[in-house]
Amino acid sequence: MSVKKITVVGGGHVGATCSQLLAMKELAREVVLLDILEGVPIGKGLDQWESAPIERFDSLVYGANDYDKAKGSDIFIVTAGVPRKPGMSRDDLLKVNAGIVESVSKEIKRVAPKSIVIIVSNPLDVMAQVALETTGFPRERVIGMAGVLDSARYRSFIALELNMSVEDIQALVLGGHGDTMVPLASYASVSGIPLTQLVPQDRIDAMLERTRKGGGEIVGYLKTGSAYYAPAAAAVQMTEAIVKDKRRILPCAAWLQGEYGMKDLFLGVPCLLGEGGLKKVIEVELSAAEKAALAKSAEAVRSVIAAWKALG
Ligand code: 2OP
Repeated sequence: MSVKKITVVGGGHVGATCSQLLAMKELAREVVLLDILEGVPIGKGLDQWESAPIERFDSLVYGANDYDKAKGSDIFIVTAGVPRKPGMSRDDLLKVNAGIVESVSKEIKRVAPKSIVIIVSNPLDVMAQVALETTGFPRERVIGMAGVLDSARYRSFIALELNMSVEDIQALVLGGHGDTMVPLASYASVSGIPLTQLVPQDRIDAMLERTRKGGGEIVGYLKTGSAYYAPAAAAVQMTEAIVKDKRRILPCAAWLQGEYGMKDLFLGVPCLLGEGGLKKVIEVELSAAEKAALAKSAEAVRSVIAAWKALG
C-alpha cells in the first residue's frame, strides 16, 4: 500500500532524512524534497534517487524549488525553519519559524487542498496551530510530530538501562514538545511488565529527566543544529501509519477539542492514526500528579501561543 505523492518541505537534515526513509520504505510513488534554497534539494533528491538501484526502491525521489511540483500531494511533512543552537529553547525559534510555516501552509493549501500535514518545525505545538489556522484544514489533517520522538528517546534509554531489546519496550510521553513534556512512568512497560517492577524509582526518574532534555542533549553535541535521525524516523512512522491505514496509537500533537479537559491548543496525546489522518484522540487515565504536569505543559504551550498572537 502506498500513496501517489508525499512532499517533504525543508531540505535540511530532518527533511532529507525523511525523504530518504520515505523512499526506502516505498511509502509513495513519488517523494518530493522541496526547499526554496536553490539547487540544494535538487542535488539531495538526485543523490537519493541514485541510491535506489542499490537499496532497491522504486519510489521516485526528487528535489524541487517550486511548489507546483508538490501539486496533488497526499501528505506533507513540514520540516522548514531554523533549528536551535546551544542555549536556545525551542520557543526562541517562534518569530522566524512562524513566518516560514505560515507561508508554507499557504502554498500547501494552494497546491494540495485535500492533503494531510504533519508538522515537525519548532516550537512544535504552536507551529501546528499556525498550519491549522492558515490552511483552514480540519484537525484530522494537521498533526504535530513530537510524542513519537520523545517516546522513542525514552524507550531507547530504557533499553540501555535494562540491556534489553528496544522492540519490547512501550512508553508514552504526553504534553507539549518542550521542557515541560510529560513522560509517563505509569504507561511504560517491557513486554507488558510495568517498568516500575524492573527498574528502581531513582533510575526511572533519571530517565524521565533525560527524556525531557533529550533534544537539548543532542543540540549540545552538534552545536550548529538539532537532532535529525530520530525526528525524521518519527515523522515517517506517523506517515506510514496513515498511508497504510495501520490504525496505530501513537503519541502526537493533536488539536484538542475538549479531550483531557482542554480546548483550542495542540498538545501531545495518544492518537489513533490511519487513513485520513487523525481518527481519534485516546483519553487515558492519569494520576493527580500526571494531570497537574499535563496542565503545566499546556500552560507553557499557551504562553507561546500568546507570544505568537502578539506578533500580529
Ligand atoms: C528535538 O527534540 C528537533 O525538537 C526536535 O530534537
